Amino acid sequence: MAKESPVIYDADYLHYHGPKGTWHVFRYDDVQRVMSDYQTFSNQYQPKIEENPSSSSLALSDPPRHKQLRMLVSDVFTPKTIANMRPWIEKITNELIDKVENNGEMDITRDIATPIPIQVIAKLLGVSPNDQEKFKKWSIMILQAPSEIEGGEETFLRSQQEMAQYFISLFEQRKVEPKDDLISHLVQAEVEGEKLSTNDLLGFCVLLLVAGNETTTNLISSSILTFIENPEIQEYLAKHPEDIPKAIEEVLRYRSPLQYINRIAAKDVKLRGQSIKKGDLINVWLGSANRDESIFPNPDQFDIHRTNLKHTAFGHGIHFCLGAPLARLEAHVALQVIFERLHQFQLKEATEPLMNPTALTYSIKELPV
Ligand code: HEM
Repeated sequence: MAKESPVIYDADYLHYHGPKGTWHVFRYDDVQRVMSDYQTFSNQYQPKIEENPSSSSLALSDPPRHKQLRMLVSDVFTPKTIANMRPWIEKITNELIDKVENNGEMDITRDIATPIPIQVIAKLLGVSPNDQEKFKKWSIMILQAPSEIEGGEETFLRSQQEMAQYFISLFEQRKVEPKDDLISHLVQAEVEGEKLSTNDLLGFCVLLLVAGNETTTNLISSSILTFIENPEIQEYLAKHPEDIPKAIEEVLRYRSPLQYINRIAAKDVKLRGQSIKKGDLINVWLGSANRDESIFPNPDQFDIHRTNLKHTAFGHGIHFCLGAPLARLEAHVALQVIFERLHQFQLKEATEPLMNPTALTYSIKELPV
């Protein structure tokens, strides 16, 4: 499809946050162009809803607001600051493996890949270890559709309110007694001389949960699945752990955790001869761009020795993933510890990985090894 029709319109495509109809952009060059040109392709594709704080977050804003919001948190996510978390991430990963080292069997997604990012974000935000169970419940809930949750929409809304109340009281505590955490940093921050509103603060917290948890879980699970499918690579990495970071970059390309991102046309524009009208929604297919054969020869082959690792899995341009150094570090530590502790891993006999049925993310619900 990407080769013959690099830009197509699907009139029946049902968007979860808009009317029917969406453009799909598949090729690497077009995907890069859309992500680079924020004046034409805007991130304000979700209607702003007062009750939904994340609808006005950093990820859904354009300049100049986007730059102001991003500057508030960029210091916290620099590779240098993030690298300081390595010993702590090693410790929690080892503890998770200690807990489940039971006949050498475990579910990678449930036991390792899900809890690591949740605990990391909880620590960054400054959530007390006593509240981690609640936090875990909300983190998982926020990524599900209300219909998927036991108790349906009512339970979903109640949990959301509970979470908002929890964060609001944390904001109040940190205003009075600041600590060395992201929430204390944000409650004191100012944009053009004004403190952030409660909704903006909530928006940041919800964004980090949405953007940082499932994606990183997917990266860790997909890496393990790919190494199981390619035993020679598993063997190679067990002997050459120094190449784990290269393997992670190739997993990001080969099984991009976020398959597409969205934009909305801020003006009429032509792309590959197609006329996109102002207000049209666009799915920008990162997963497809990362398999574009004009950029990555033999794109369907997993090859950790590729020389071109310029994948688009973390996006491009002003919205380039803020958490990329953190996601890379979490995956590196998790894989390194798994190789050290398990040496070799394979799928549990007579099981298949259970995939989540979604086009947005490449995700593995169960990965018993
Ligand atoms: C933005 C992917 C992990 C925080 C993005 C974007 C992509 C992405 C593609 C660009 C969205 C756009 O252009 O509209 C990923 C992947 C991850 C990951 C594949 C894991 C493998 C994380 C983590 C965090 C994080 C761990 C933080 C804890 C963010 C934030 C943005 C973002 C705040 C918005 C940046 C902006 O709009 O300026 N991510 N992400 N991400 N990501 Fe990530």
